[in-house]
Amino acid sequence: MKTEQFKLGPMDNFSYLVWDEDTLDAVVIDPAWQPEKLAAFLEAGGLTLRAVLLTHAHPDHVNAVAFFTARDKALPVHLHEADHFMLETVPPALKPAVDGEKIEAGALKLGVLHTPGHTPGSVCYLAGNAVFTGDTLFIGECGRVDLPGSSPEALYSSFVKLAALPDAAAVFPGHSYNGDTSTFGVQKEYNLYLKLARQGRRADFLKAVS
Ligand SMILES: [Fe+2]
Repeated sequence: MKTEQFKLGPMDNFSYLVWDEDTLDAVVIDPAWQPEKLAAFLEAGGLTLRAVLLTHAHPDHVNAVAFFTARDKALPVHLHEADHFMLETVPPALKPAVDGEKIEAGALKLGVLHTPGHTPGSVCYLAGNAVFTGDTLFIGECGRVDLPGSSPEALYSSFVKLAALPDAAAVFPGHSYNGDTSTFGVQKEYNLYLKLARQGRRADFLKAVS
C-alpha cells in the first residue's frame, strides 16, 4: 500500500491518496480545496478511485467531495454517522464509517477507529502502518474542542485509544501545523496530550485542552 500527502488550500489542509500497487485501486482521504491536483496524480499513476474517506465533516476537509462525485455518482463516500448532520451537501452514495470495521475499496482495506472529541463523528483511518488522524491528533498537538459538537471528555477517551497504537505506526494528520508526519512512538514521548492520556491523567488532560 502506498500513500501520498498533499498540502492544499489556505489552512494547510492535508488530503491523502492511498493505493494498492498491484491493482492500482485508490482511495482519497479528506479531498478539499484543490481536487485537480489529486485528480492529476490519480491520472498520472493510472489509479482508479474506489472510495472517498472523510475523517470528519468540517468544510475544510470535505469541500472537494463534489468534484469527485460529480464524475462518478456511485462513488462511495464514507463518514461516521455522527457527523452526517454537518454535511452541507449530501453525497449521492453516502456510507457510514463504523468503529472497528474495515472499509473495502477494491483491493484496499482500511480500518476505522472512532475518535470523537473534535467532532462527534471524527474517525482515524488505519491503512497498514499508516494512521490518518484528521483533526483529532496533530504533530505535537490535539484538535480544537471549543467548536459546536466538540467534547473535551470524548477527546480524552479517544486519546487513550490512540495511545494504545504501536510505536511504529505513522501519524498522518489533517493539517500541517507543527509538522507533516511523525510516529506514535515519537508522539507518545513529545505530544503532551498523548502523553497525559497514556498516563491516565484525565484531569490534567482536560485542563490542558481548555
Ligand atoms: Fe476540523
